[in-house]
Amino acid sequence: MIKGFKNAVELDFSVEENRRKLEEAFQQVNAEKGKTYPLIIGGEKIETEKKITSLSPATKEVLGYACSCSRELADKAIQTADEAFKTWSRTPAEERIRCLRRLTRLIEENRFILDAWNVEESGKNWGEADGELCEALDFFNSYAMHMANLDKGLELVPTDELTKCIYIPIGVGAIIPPWNFPLSICGGMVTAALVTGNSVICKPSSDTPIVAYKFVELCLKAGFPAGTINYIPGSGSEIGDYIVEHPRTRFINFTGSKAVGCRINEKAAKVADGQIWLKRVVAEMGGKNAIIVDSTANIKKAAAGVASSAFTFQGQKCSACSRALVMSDVYDEFVEEVVKCAKDLKEHQGSGASNAPMGPVINQAAYDSITGYIEVGRKEGKIVYGGTYSDTEGFYIDPTVIRDVDKDARIANEEIFGPVLAVVKVDSFDEALAIANQTEYGLTGSVYSETREHIQKAKVEFQVGNLYFNRKSTAAVVLQHPFGGFNMSGTDAKTGTSDYLTNFLNLKSVTEDL
Ligand code: NAD
Ligand code: ALA
Repeated sequence: MIKGFKNAVELDFSVEENRRKLEEAFQQVNAEKGKTYPLIIGGEKIETEKKITSLSPATKEVLGYACSCSRELADKAIQTADEAFKTWSRTPAEERIRCLRRLTRLIEENRFILDAWNVEESGKNWGEADGELCEALDFFNSYAMHMANLDKGLELVPTDELTKCIYIPIGVGAIIPPWNFPLSICGGMVTAALVTGNSVICKPSSDTPIVAYKFVELCLKAGFPAGTINYIPGSGSEIGDYIVEHPRTRFINFTGSKAVGCRINEKAAKVADGQIWLKRVVAEMGGKNAIIVDSTANIKKAAAGVASSAFTFQGQKCSACSRALVMSDVYDEFVEEVVKCAKDLKEHQGSGASNAPMGPVINQAAYDSITGYIEVGRKEGKIVYGGTYSDTEGFYIDPTVIRDVDKDARIANEEIFGPVLAVVKVDSFDEALAIANQTEYGLTGSVYSETREHIQKAKVEFQVGNLYFNRKSTAAVVLQHPFGGFNMSGTDAKTGTSDYLTNFLNLKSVTEDL
């Protein structure tokens, strides 16, 4: 165990008091629905004419309006962060850590209202929202702990000279998170940069700007100085490229799709007029995660793990399983079992607020894209469960199992980011490994097997950043399963670790002759 670090514990919602507090928080959210959320630049709240509408994915009801940032205001935010950096970068790490510790306390104090907003805005159920809040707390606690260690500098060999090697912050960072973990991913990306002494502009996803706003407000309340964290929602086309290309942006911390990550990487590589550094890009991107089930696996356990990985949170985790690669002699049995699990989930489909195990997908575009893939899958294999959907009230798609899918089919290679599972038949473990590795991604993977040689082989040859055995491919826990992918899944940032923080630091070697 890492001394001094303990993972946060999820709330038990079977406890009456917890349920009551969350219900009260939902009432508070209801009373706040329809509000406008301004930009926050240098602590100043700025309203703009253009708005981003935050819609409930469960009901299509308007939750609120986030002001949309123009290029001029994005420029102001970068200048403001640049100015704040001058002081913040020289603020002792101890003080920065103190702010982060205060933030942790504030998140705990606001736990129920943050959970309720997350449920409403992202469509998660109660446990998923509170699990995410725990992940956020874990990130904050781990980054506070790591920063205290990094502040000691690097250990050097003793010489006759006076030498030290210290970590120093690098500048203004553009933080660009996805919608699916609006508190923990956004919060982790922001606080890693802040605690290391950088200042940030945070451009949240247009699907979840309210959760991000609540988080930024708490950061300011925790004592991170105005200007070190600036909140600027806006579309990728309007301000996304602009902040990435800006000469004063020192680094980009991005999590999202491969397409946007590649675009950011390319744009950030071009040196703008007046720019005096190469920008650092941390880009954590998508996945096409596979679970291998061999003939010696416990099939019931494997089917339950695959279904949980593929369908919970509607398959909208980057870690979600969307390909099951199953040995031919257990294939039919596996399909039968996974269908049973999917059936059970569909029976309990509903809104996040009703705490159903499966809820809606995030928005109309996601609904259209996922259902488009289901139609492709209808031709590429045989739908044995689901394949049905409706966007009448919210964006609901039934858990869908497609069998007899060829390894080269589109649904077996492209990220769908929805509750759709392609089941591919394989004749050997080697074939399964080859198929698992054939996509451009490399994020998560699992193997269900009781064969030691298979497990050993997969440990070496399964090319993913997070590999699991006889367990689902989702639900990485901070500092238990450091998270980050290979290849087109990203730059392997391994969130939650000390290494992650060094993305936002320079190492300065200082020597004095005596
Ligand atoms: P997305 O790529 O559509 O958007 C991510 C962020 O990029 C959003 O804030 C968006 O506004 C912004 N953006 C869009 N265009 C931009 C541009 N031109 N310049 C700058 N910013 C721009 O992704 P999403 O739909 O929010 O999230 C889902 C994707 O994220 C999936 O592919 C999923 O696998 C991936 N994801 C990866 C991880 C990981 O750790 N690897 C974690 C969560 C999600
Ligand atoms: N870190 C999240 C998981 O492992 C995405 O499921």
